[in-house]
Amino acid sequence: MTTETTTVQDAVHLLPQTKQLRALHTIIRNRGADRDDFVSNAGRVIRQLIEAGLELLPFEPCDVRTPVGETYHGLRITPEICGVSIARAGESMEAELRAMSPEIRIGKILIQRDKVTKLPHLYYSALPADIVNRHVLLLDPMLATGGTALAAIEVLLETGVPEEHIVFVNLLSAPEGIKAVRERYPHVRMVTSSIEQRLNENAYMQPGIGDFGDRYFGTDVVL
Ligand code: URA
Repeated sequence: MTTETTTVQDAVHLLPQTKQLRALHTIIRNRGADRDDFVSNAGRVIRQLIEAGLELLPFEPCDVRTPVGETYHGLRITPEICGVSIARAGESMEAELRAMSPEIRIGKILIQRDKVTKLPHLYYSALPADIVNRHVLLLDPMLATGGTALAAIEVLLETGVPEEHIVFVNLLSAPEGIKAVRERYPHVRMVTSSIEQRLNENAYMQPGIGDFGDRYFGTDVVL
């Protein structure tokens, strides 16, 4: 239940801040990291995030026979799932999701801020036809102001996906973005590997990572 006293920390599932996770963050946050290091180490964090996102889904019992003839009382994820990436940076998370589940369906949403109105504008979406019957891992590595996230969640809801079936997976989150999502869509679960201190005047997170999409796809400006 959302209350006046709900804190940012209550609203999201924050990955355990292990030494290994901090070491990965140390590599990818370093402005001097080369592209290979950035991509491979961001991928390792993204893998942990997706695993944590899957952990939030419903499971059901599933018994299997082991090679030595015993029964293992296991579990399997109950609902069908799909990924939906928010282009462009969210596409960086597709590879890890596909590596974990090669047959998974992946939709895409492209939202950009209108230069005149400054409001998020939906340019394109392609979603699995049966998405209303699936739980959705919504993928965007950066949750800054929350404007794009809110617009993407709106697209999913208009398509018929219940709020409770959306897990928003991102690598860095600003408190401002978490608050915006939490206030408008309290049933959307969020998974992140870091809650940052604040946004700067250009809406970049601090201490941050810079422009994730540019660094991941190699389109950053060379000074
Ligand atoms: N998008 C990014 O790539 N980085 C930020 O810090 C904020 C938004």
